[in-house]
Amino acid sequence: MMVQTLEKGTAKQMVASSIVYDTQKLNLWYGNHHALKNIDLQIKENEVTAIIGPSGCGKSTYIKTLNRMVELVPTVKTSGAILYRERNIFDANYGVEELRTKVGMVFQKPNPFPKSIYDNIAYGPRIHGIKNKKVLDEIVEKSLRGAAIWEEVKDRLTTNAYSLSGGQQQRICIARCLAIEPDVILMDEPTSALDPISTLKVEELIQELKQDYSIIIVTHNMQQAARISDKTAFFLNGEVVEFDKTDVIFSTPEDNRTEDYISGRFG
Ligand SMILES: Nc1ncnc2c1ncn2[C@@H]1O[C@H](COP(=O)(O)OP(=O)(O)O)[C@@H](O)[C@H]1O
Ligand SMILES: [Mg+2]
Repeated sequence: MMVQTLEKGTAKQMVASSIVYDTQKLNLWYGNHHALKNIDLQIKENEVTAIIGPSGCGKSTYIKTLNRMVELVPTVKTSGAILYRERNIFDANYGVEELRTKVGMVFQKPNPFPKSIYDNIAYGPRIHGIKNKKVLDEIVEKSLRGAAIWEEVKDRLTTNAYSLSGGQQQRICIARCLAIEPDVILMDEPTSALDPISTLKVEELIQELKQDYSIIIVTHNMQQAARISDKTAFFLNGEVVEFDKTDVIFSTPEDNRTEDYISGRFG
């Protein structure tokens, strides 16, 4: 952890900070389509960073770049750098498997495996070679507790995860993420397919998880960004228009386009 001295007004504050992701002049093209333009963004440890902006502005593309999932699209080209814990993930010798064990992802539509609740959570640890039943049991319980769903499923760990409600499935997917003990959790509109009560549960969960993880969440819902995030980045047409503390973005944004978007004038 590095300690920085930051100027704030006239007073100097000592702020403990640690940068998890440092995105530097990132550009991304799908074929000829320039989807991300000169993105500079720093993601800090133990914060929730929200990415907001209208449909098609590059939010999903950006977070899929952070774990290099975007490279699954054959036409993708990038320039610039993304430093994860000070190493450029685009370096030729950077191990993408290693990155994926550090960076978990939760998608818009809950996507559990068609397996038992237990096997969903044990899947990642098993891939990493953990076979001992007692150890796996402990990981499964800890992960389900961490995702605030243990009490609801502890008596039916052998039932298929598909039998759960959408909100429960999404928390299973979060638990599956936690089981590999990630450093960062990427979430792409994780509550947009959920009912209001499940949404609230997942939002409360995100607040708890940020004590142990760094979370980057794409959300279409500005109230959600305002409720749960520490920082907010407003994307528009592939650019970051403004990035600041969430309360600043929602109370006194600097850019007119941010102001127009948060006041519902477009998007
Ligand atoms: N696989 C792809 N191939 C080509 N263009 C894509 C692909 N995925 C996304 N795009 C384009 O990139 C832009 C950003 O998309 P996306 O990141 O999904 O936006 P958002 O998540 O903000 O809605 C859009 O214009 C979209 O059509
Ligand atoms: Mg998207």
